Amino acid sequence: MFNDTIRPRRLRTSDSLRRMVRETRISPDSLIWPIFVAEGEHIYREIESLPGQYHYSPDELWRMVEQARAHGVSRVILFGLPLHKDEEGSGAWAADGIVQQGVRKIKELAPEMYVITDVCMCEYTSHGHCGILCGHDVDNDKTIEKLAQIALSHAQAGADMVAPSDMMDGRVARIRETLDENGFQNIPIMAYSAKFASYFYGPFREAAGSAPSFGDRRSYQMDPHNGREAMRECELDVEEGADILMVKPALAYLDLIHEARYRFDLPIAAYAVSGEYAMVKAAAKAGLIDEHGVMCESAISVFRAGADILITYYACELADAIRKGEIG
Ligand code: PBG
Repeated sequence: MFNDTIRPRRLRTSDSLRRMVRETRISPDSLIWPIFVAEGEHIYREIESLPGQYHYSPDELWRMVEQARAHGVSRVILFGLPLHKDEEGSGAWAADGIVQQGVRKIKELAPEMYVITDVCMCEYTSHGHCGILCGHDVDNDKTIEKLAQIALSHAQAGADMVAPSDMMDGRVARIRETLDENGFQNIPIMAYSAKFASYFYGPFREAAGSAPSFGDRRSYQMDPHNGREAMRECELDVEEGADILMVKPALAYLDLIHEARYRFDLPIAAYAVSGEYAMVKAAAKAGLIDEHGVMCESAISVFRAGADILITYYACELADAIRKGEIG
């Protein structure tokens, strides 16, 4: 039966009113832009698998800084593309490694920029796995020692926050301990807590040259069927001292963003990964969807699900949309 005194459409009658009753508010302060720093010089190259995103050598990072400033984006997360890889991924913790160079350069160009580093080994190992191998398996306990070394080297280079993305057990505790022993008590850890073994990372692995040379990442990244296990991973990261929890990918895992929001009091980050971005780009190019509209709606969904922070290749475009009042 229609009770005609109750009409939800009443609150949708004007733009002014709709904006007043919005439940989800988004700010450019909540956006983090992923940046790929490539070892070498004069590299400013569009990434084929991620149209509109670039590889920057340190001497070209000023272009990124200019773009970020123009759009009001002041938080980035760095990934490195080293020239040389080896079995152990030793380039990852080198004092003059590519991420360490990138951090120093950005801090020199733009001290106001908040620089987060991805802590992982897959871009640095010759086999492309996220840790030290023992046979064909990644050795958890050896790997977390290296991860702690990597995180420390990032902090020493001037990183503001470290973000381990490897999914080894106990890595947050080990990184926290190492940072603290070395006087970096105030460097927060954003843990990739619920990171799934996802097909949505395809374009990133091309962009970062980090596809595993054999096998896959299912012995460390999570099985997409498992939601309760994702909460267990978050809980462990809380106990180990994580400051921010992350769910990754974003759109296909909104249920877990939502659940993590209600179960934990820490800020929740979501990573709209390379495949999510590349799909929108490809569909828009094919004339199938309105890129701007889909970009905005996808971001709103992630925040509505409960995320506080969104890591996205669309950070600049979203910051513009927020400032123009189109969303947020
Ligand atoms: C490194 C890492 C990956 C991503 C972020 N950190 C790739 C992977 O786990 O294979 C994916 C990001 C994206 O797809 O945008 N381990």
